[in-house]
This record gives sequence, C-alpha cells and structure tokens, in this order.
Amino acid sequence: MAHQSELIARDIGAYLHVQEHKSLLRFITCGSVDDGKSTLIGRLLYESKLIFDDQLTQLAADSRRVGTRGGELDFALLVDGLAAEREQGITIDVAYRFFSTERRKFIVADTPGHEQYTRNMVTGASTADLAVILIDARKGVLVQTRRHSYLVHLIGIPRIVLAVNKMDLVGYSQASFDEIVGHYRDFAARLGLTDISAIPLSAVHGDNVIAPSTHMPWYAGPTLLQHLETVEVDAALAGQPFRLPVQWVNRPNAEFRGFAGLIAGGTVHRGDRLRVLPSGREGRVARIVTAGGDLESASAGQSVTLTLDTEVDVSRGDVLAAADAPPQVADQFEATIVWLQDEPMLQGRTYLMKTGTRTLSATVTPLKHRVNVNTLEHEPAERLELNDIGVCELELDRPIPFEAYSESRALGGFILIDRLTNNTAGAGLINFALRRSQNVHWQALDVDKQLRARLKGQKACVLWLTGLSGAGKSTIANLIEKRLAAAGRHTYLLDGDNVRHGLNKDLGFTAQDRVENIRRVAEVARLMVDAGLIVLVSFISPFRSERRMARELFAAGEFFEVFVDTPLAEAERRDVKGLYRKARRGELKNFTGIDSPYETPETPEIHIDTTALNADQAAGSVIAHLASRKVIAGA
Ligand code: ADX
Repeated sequence: MAHQSELIARDIGAYLHVQEHKSLLRFITCGSVDDGKSTLIGRLLYESKLIFDDQLTQLAADSRRVGTRGGELDFALLVDGLAAEREQGITIDVAYRFFSTERRKFIVADTPGHEQYTRNMVTGASTADLAVILIDARKGVLVQTRRHSYLVHLIGIPRIVLAVNKMDLVGYSQASFDEIVGHYRDFAARLGLTDISAIPLSAVHGDNVIAPSTHMPWYAGPTLLQHLETVEVDAALAGQPFRLPVQWVNRPNAEFRGFAGLIAGGTVHRGDRLRVLPSGREGRVARIVTAGGDLESASAGQSVTLTLDTEVDVSRGDVLAAADAPPQVADQFEATIVWLQDEPMLQGRTYLMKTGTRTLSATVTPLKHRVNVNTLEHEPAERLELNDIGVCELELDRPIPFEAYSESRALGGFILIDRLTNNTAGAGLINFALRRSQNVHWQALDVDKQLRARLKGQKACVLWLTGLSGAGKSTIANLIEKRLAAAGRHTYLLDGDNVRHGLNKDLGFTAQDRVENIRRVAEVARLMVDAGLIVLVSFISPFRSERRMARELFAAGEFFEVFVDTPLAEAERRDVKGLYRKARRGELKNFTGIDSPYETPETPEIHIDTTALNADQAAGSVIAHLASRKVIAGA
C-alpha cells in the first residue's frame, strides 16, 4: 500500500481524514469464463499496491504450480480464491474486494461468467454504480455479453464500461475494436443503455489498465483505472422522498417506542411529518436516535431509530415515508423475474415473497412472457427455467407499500422463496401495480359462511382426498358423500375427472397445468365452503406446494387432507381405467407415478392405507375422524 504508507507515517490524522472523505465506487465485473476478468482485477489490485507480501509469495508459488502464464505471475490466481475453481479454471462465487487509490475507494463484486451462475451476478450487482463488461477481442459480443448487459439494465446499473480485453491477440487493431464497440452499441441502444465507455486493453500485459498503452496510440481515452477514479457517482438516493422500511419496533419500556431500520431513500429531519404504510396513519418525528446519540437529520444509507410524537401502530415490515410524497400501496403487480433455481417457476404456483423487511405470499397469475436476451423478443411461456427472465403478474395475500424498481431498488426489488425448500427461487423487480386490484374491492356481505352453515345445521369444511390415479379416491369420496347425505348433511363432491370435463377442460397434465388445475379447484372449494357446504375434493393433487396453497385458503380446522395411500404397484395392478398400461407403453405422457412425480403428504389429517382397509371401512374412518373433531355429530 505504498501510496498511502508515507502519509500514514507522517500524519495519521490527515490520512484518516482523507480516507473518510474519499468517494466510494461500487462496481461489478462480468465476463465469460476466459475473458480475463480475474486477471484484470488481479492486476488492478497488484498495481494499486494492495497485495501483501505473503500473498505475493503465495502468488508466485501458485503461478509456477498451476498458472497459465509459463511461470510468470498469473494474476487470475490471486482473485480466484477457491481451490475448486482454480483447478477447473472458472470463478464460482461472488467475491467482494476492497481497494483504494489516492482518489477513490472501490468495492468490486467479481461475478462469475458462465450461465448457471446468474444468481450470483444478480446478488453482486444490486448495489453497483457501474458494470465492467469484459469482451474477448477475438470473440466479440457473445450471448453472455448480451445476457450480462440485459441483467445490468434490469438491475438498474446506470453506467457501463465495455472492456475489450486481449487486444494483444488481435494485433492491437483499431478496426477490431471499433467493430466490437459498434455491435455492442447497437444492442445496448435497444435496451436503453446509453452511458457506455469503451476501453481497449490487455490485462495480461497491463495495456490501458493503469497506465496508458504504448501499443494503441489510436486510443486517446482514459485507462480503466483513470475512468473508474473519475466517473461521477451520484448521491441521488439522499435527494429522493424519505423511505424507511421498519426492521423492528424497539420497545424497551413503556416510555420508549422506536422504529428502527436502514433509510432506503431521502432525508429525515426532526419534526418532519411521516406517514405509516400500509395503514396510512401519520405522526411527526420526535427523535432520531442512533448509537452515537440523537441527530437533527439523517439520510439514505444510515441506520436509525425514529420515535413519533403520537401513538401510531407500526409493525415490522411497515414503511415510514414522507407524508407529502408517500409510496403507493397495492397487492397485484406486474413484475420482471430472473429465475434462479432448478425447479421451474410455474404459472399459478404460490411462493414466499420477501421485499424490504416483510415476507408474504405471492401467486403467479399469469406468466406473460419470457424474454429472449439475445434478440430481446418476448416469447410465450408457461414456466421459467433456471436463468430465464420473464414478466409475470403477481397476486399478494395483502397490500404492501411499493415503488417501481426503476424508482427505488429498496421498495421495488424482491426475492421469491420456494416454500418447500426455503431456497431463493427468483429475484424480481416490480414494474407497476395492476389497476384491476385498485378497482376491485372486497364486498362486505351480511349473510356469511357461519350463517349459511348454521341454516344447514352443520359446520362447513373440506375433505381433500389426494393419492395416485386408481388409488381409490373417487370410490371412497363417493361412499363418504353417500353417508353424509344419508345423515342429512349438505355436501358437494368435486372429482378430478368430472371437473376436467367442464371448468378445467382446457388443462392437460403438464406440471403447470396441474398447478392451475388445483388452484382453480381450491378456489371453487373455498366458495363452496363459504356457501356452508361440506366439500369433498378428489384430485390426484400430486404437488405438496399446491396442497399447501389449498390448505392456506381455509380457516384452521376447516381443511382435512386425506391421503388415500395405495402403493404404485398396487394401483398399477388394479389399473381400472387401463391408463397405467397405456403409460407404460409410452402412449400416455406425464402420467403420475410413471413419468410425473407424486409427492407424498407429510402430515395429512387422515391417512388411509387401502391395502389394510376396504373402501367402506376407509369411508367409515373418515366419518369417525370428522365426528371426533366435532365437525359432524356422529353420523
Ligand atoms: S391432477 O394431478 O391435476 O390433480 P386430476 O385428479 O385432475 O389430476 O385428474 C386425474 C385423472 O385424469 C386420473 O384419474 C386419470 O383418470 C386421468 N388422467 C389422464 N391422463 C393422466 C395423466 N397423465 N396423469 C394422471 N392422470 C391422468
């Protein structure tokens, strides 16, 4: 750290002052596997003297052992910290590195280049001011380059440096450089990316990385480092309207009630009028509390605890906002999604959505299209696979305060979480709220579910029979309904085969069609329970995720999952409809149990082993269970 050590020795106070007041540039680097990205970052670190002696010794040893530069220092090894990736020659995780020069501090998120690691790129990019997109001068603009640029555009990174690397391998040719830059600008213009600086360089030889290259006199622009040191970083966040997503409500005693969080945008002063969203209540800021004492004002990027002058209800996940410029509140959106897990995103499926400090349920209704990042065309799609980018509509289980992502990364960005595995399934950006949600209100009705059920002298509920085709669901459901009817109960039986002749006759047996099949029948069952009926649903309903979605539509004690458990071999042996034989012959695709999965219930309310009970006994055991739960008085 040579450039700094002199000042440290002479005047440590001055050194610290300079450090504190240097501006910070966050940037990401993206490139394909062999574009020379790690070498470039390695050289930036090396030449800005940020490598310690022991690292240098290690680097020299590694370069001799596994380096690709014939024993010379291989800067890529410095950056590619993980043993596994060294051996494979690829970079596999986001690595944040800090370095500084006399003019500026830098945080660089080094994101991997190959396609399956889009996730890391999205993670690394979300706070970046600038993206360095690397291109191999021999290869020009690749699908990867387009993909990275599309993501950079989505994530809202305003500036791009097009680093055309390996110029030494094309004879430092200006014509090659100009051609690549021309291609790139054409593509970028269609995305609306305009702030692009193109720099020809050779990371291996150091041309135009730190010092100007002597090999390319035709290039008069700045070197990469000069550009990074001088490019303007705006402090736009502090000038936006005030936003504080509440992380937690701090209530140590009856006197103090503070709302803590990180200011996502704008500036707050003592006495400012704030609105709490989504409730809409208002109050004035009484105190701005921090670990270092009270403040008069605080801005984006600071963590504070605010107290208000009035008692208003605020909970975790709410947003405190400038009362005169509050964000909107809605529960249906159009959003752009980048899919990040192997299990595809299916239209109709419900995910957990995490936005700011709140977590809620979001259902995909519907997927509108997938974006071809190469041509930017919109393609029709019913699912998003890993790394796909698509636009969908989302319906949330409650309204949230939001802003379009283009206005606020904090209030417009979210992640989707798979409810079964808890993995991050996708990253999303809110485009806008759907008007239909603002114009459709919930109508309060005087005659309600309880009254309707009481008139029928019963409690409404749903019996959800799930199991393989041929497990015996319909037979058992039919017997249960007969017994309930005989006892004077008001019932309805929704059977898969029958509903597929009417309401769901547009649906087949792909995963996404089954998701939609169950979503619709669950909604119908909910209406029927609301009508006061005892509803029997007899559908294979093979996926845990949708059975859980169905369960969540009902009140506690209203939903009974009945697992009609017949082993595959037994269902296949019975093969009442001859469908297993067809499926085995390959004449029926996506058949449950054969080439489409059945996910066994983990904790059904009622478990029926059809190898131990006949249909009559099975029906009897369900009736007995309902009686024991006081849903019916012993029928
Ligand atoms: S679900 O999986 O979407 O819940 P559903 O219960 O509606 O299925 O329909 C299942 C019925 O459709 C089966 O009982 C069977 O008669 C018929 N069927 C036709 N093709 C298939 C298939 N590929 N997989 C499962 N069932 C099928």
